[in-house]
Amino acid sequence: MTQEINIRAAGFEDAAPIFSLIQSAADCLLPRSLGDLIQNIDRCLVARKEQLIVGTVSWQILPEIGRCSNPAVEIKSLVIRDSERGRGLGRRLVSAAIDRIAVFRPCEIIVLTFTPDFFARLGFKVTSKERLMHKLYMGCMNCTRFESPFTCPEVAMSLSMETDETKK
Ligand SMILES: CC(C)(COP(=O)(O)OP(=O)(O)OC[C@H]1O[C@@H](n2cnc3c(N)ncnc32)[C@H](O)[C@@H]1OP(=O)(O)O)[C@@H](O)C(=O)NCCC(=O)NCCS
Repeated sequence: MTQEINIRAAGFEDAAPIFSLIQSAADCLLPRSLGDLIQNIDRCLVARKEQLIVGTVSWQILPEIGRCSNPAVEIKSLVIRDSERGRGLGRRLVSAAIDRIAVFRPCEIIVLTFTPDFFARLGFKVTSKERLMHKLYMGCMNCTRFESPFTCPEVAMSLSMETDETKK
C-alpha cells in the first residue's frame, strides 16, 4: 500500500529532522543552523510520511528600503528526501508554500537556485541578481561559499504575484 504524504506547518519537534534534511543536500542548499530553524519554524512546511519528515521548504520576507513598493518573499531550503524525489512532492511543497505566502500579497516570490529547470516548470522566470541586490544583500554578505553573488552559480528566479490589488 502506498503511504500517504501530508504537508503541514512545521512544529518545533520538526526542527531537528529539517536540519538533517538540509544537511543531506549540502551541495545544493545553503546550510542553516538548528537555532535559525527553531527561531523561524513558523516559516517552514514539512511533508510527512507516517512519522518521517520526507520534505521541507521555508520562506523569508525580503527587506524593503523605504515604503513597501515591491514586497518580495524568498523561497528557500527546499529539499525532498532522496527516496521520494521525482514523484511530484517538490511541486506540491512549493505550491503549498506559495499558497501560504500569497496571504501577504507580495509582488513577487524569489528563489536562488541550482535547479532552475525545476522552478521554471512551476512558473518561475529567470531574473537578474542586480535587480534583487538590496534584497539579497544580507544572505550574500554572509555567504562562505562564493566571493560575490556574481561568481555564485545560483540562478535568481521570480514568480510574479501581481494582482490588481498589489498594483495599487
Ligand atoms: C529539486 C527537488 C526539490 C525536486 O523535487 P521533486 O519532488 O523530485 O520534484 P517533482 O517530482 O515535484 O518535479 C516537478 C517537475 O520538475 C521536474 N524536475 C524535478 N527535479 C528537477 C531537476 N533537478 N531539474 C529539472 N527538472 C526537475 C520534474 O521532472 C517535474 O516535471 P513535470 O512537471 O514536467 O513532470 C529535489 O530534487 C531536491 O530536493 N533536490 C535537492 C535540493 C535542491 O536542489 N533544492 C532546490 C534548491 S532551491
